[in-house]
Amino acid sequence: ERQIFVTRHGESQDNLTGRIGGDASLSPKGRRFSKALARFVKERRVTFALDLARRRIQEEKESKDPLRDSDDEDQAADELEEHKTEKKVRATAEAISNSQFTIWTSMLKRSMETAQSFDPDEYDIKHIRFLNEINSGSREGMTYEEIKSQFPNEFQARQDNKLYYRYPGMGGESYIDVIHRLQSMIIELERMSQSCLIITHRVVLRILLSYLLEWSQTDTPHMLVPIHTVYELRPKPYGVELTTWCYDE
Ligand code: F6P
Repeated sequence: ERQIFVTRHGESQDNLTGRIGGDASLSPKGRRFSKALARFVKERRVTFALDLARRRIQEEKESKDPLRDSDDEDQAADELEEHKTEKKVRATAEAISNSQFTIWTSMLKRSMETAQSFDPDEYDIKHIRFLNEINSGSREGMTYEEIKSQFPNEFQARQDNKLYYRYPGMGGESYIDVIHRLQSMIIELERMSQSCLIITHRVVLRILLSYLLEWSQTDTPHMLVPIHTVYELRPKPYGVELTTWCYDE
């Protein structure tokens, strides 16, 4: 069992001005999110490790002695047994929470800076270009209002078909293009067994969540995925369990 955390980068200078694309740094609030995120992930890892350790040890006990009824024992023996179990749970949980944990960011500053509060000795941090935000071609650095007033037809075309609309200009992408470039990342994510945190961007996050939660592709470009929100996923045999956490300072 493992945890997959997915989030957008902390608030950037461009988020404050409403500019799309670009390679801005974090705002002071974004930097505070980064610190809070590191503390939060650590806390959730410990909780997860304790839950998992308790379950494993309980299952182990049941498989060894399925018919044991605690009423048969005297109280002192029960207490000793409980104490031993708790020690074992803590040791197992410590081993689980010390196991390898990977952090993937994009290669854009706002995403890499969000990972800066994580101790590199404790986490395996990788920066991956495939996780970069959608390339908005010649519209990089503009606000939606500017696009709407200067290129009303284009603006409308994107509204009408956000999934297939490709931004004009060099490197310009559509959601479908981003879905394609994420294929190899998704395969890697499914293949690896350790827990991880992915710090990425609005479009990439929508695509990853839709894939992992099997949501419809047509709704993907319209999902509400605010910054400073962490999605914690736990793959289970029957599907994926999702918990959404909001940072509130
Ligand atoms: O505004 C932040 C941002 O990540 C932009 O860089 C990007 O172009 C945009 O969101 C994508 O969101 P949408 O597809 O809804 O325009």
